[in-house]
Amino acid sequence: MKLILLGPPGGGKGTQSKFLMDEFNIPQISTGDMLRSHVKNNTLLGIKAKEAMNKGELVNDVLILEMMKLRFNDPDCINGFILDGFPRTIGQAEGLDKLLIEINQKIDHVIIIQVDDDQIVKRMSGRRLHPKSGRVYHIKYNPPKNIGKDDLTNEDLIIRDDDKEETVRNRLEVYHAQTKPLIDYYKNNVFKVDGKKPIEMVKNNIFNYLK
Ligand code: AP5
Repeated sequence: MKLILLGPPGGGKGTQSKFLMDEFNIPQISTGDMLRSHVKNNTLLGIKAKEAMNKGELVNDVLILEMMKLRFNDPDCINGFILDGFPRTIGQAEGLDKLLIEINQKIDHVIIIQVDDDQIVKRMSGRRLHPKSGRVYHIKYNPPKNIGKDDLTNEDLIIRDDDKEETVRNRLEVYHAQTKPLIDYYKNNVFKVDGKKPIEMVKNNIFNYLK
């Protein structure tokens, strides 16, 4: 199964990816998580990406496509993958089409999680992240078992640098201008799900569609 999860920042792509990973035994490929790891490890890519990420802008398409080309060569991609946060521009979608031809794969489904901007802004202030695994929590809607700690490792959860309201609003603007046009790009092959519903209901709607 090869899936693309599209949607606004904070729409629930990461949250739903984890359910899909477990169900279909395929990796979640989150360009955001990959970039954050590069920034943390101070790699050349991380240094180049950091400024754009902190402002809530997109990292250059060429860098993203180079990163993804390498990722698709990893053996865990053989049975499929969930693309979380990629592609994000028409240029990336065209680049992805070329990469898929090279590895002889094709996308089965594009799932679009829809949430209004105001609800996103409210949500983001409550998000907590376990950076190593990418597991996401929400202090109200999806709280960890122990406050501030990851359920599996008991390690500390963090607040992402780009979850400040001002940066979130900028990320939303970028989403509307650069990523939303992808809904038309994939128009024959998309499933739109209401991401305002509770997490479990969004999950059930996606799973029912995929069955
Ligand atoms: P990235 O990490 O991809 O961020 P994003 O797309 O902005 O998405 P988020 O991770 O913020 O949200 P999400 O949809 O995964 O929601 P989540 O499940 O966490 O990218 C970060 C930055 O990296 C970008 O700004 C850019 O600079 C760069 N970048 C990344 N990819 C790039 C690319 N391809 N090209 C160029 N640049 C790129 O949920 C959010 C919160 O809500 C959580 O607390 C969760 O518990 C809660 N929640 C989830 N679902 C629900 C629900 N149904 N009801 C109530 N609460 C919910």
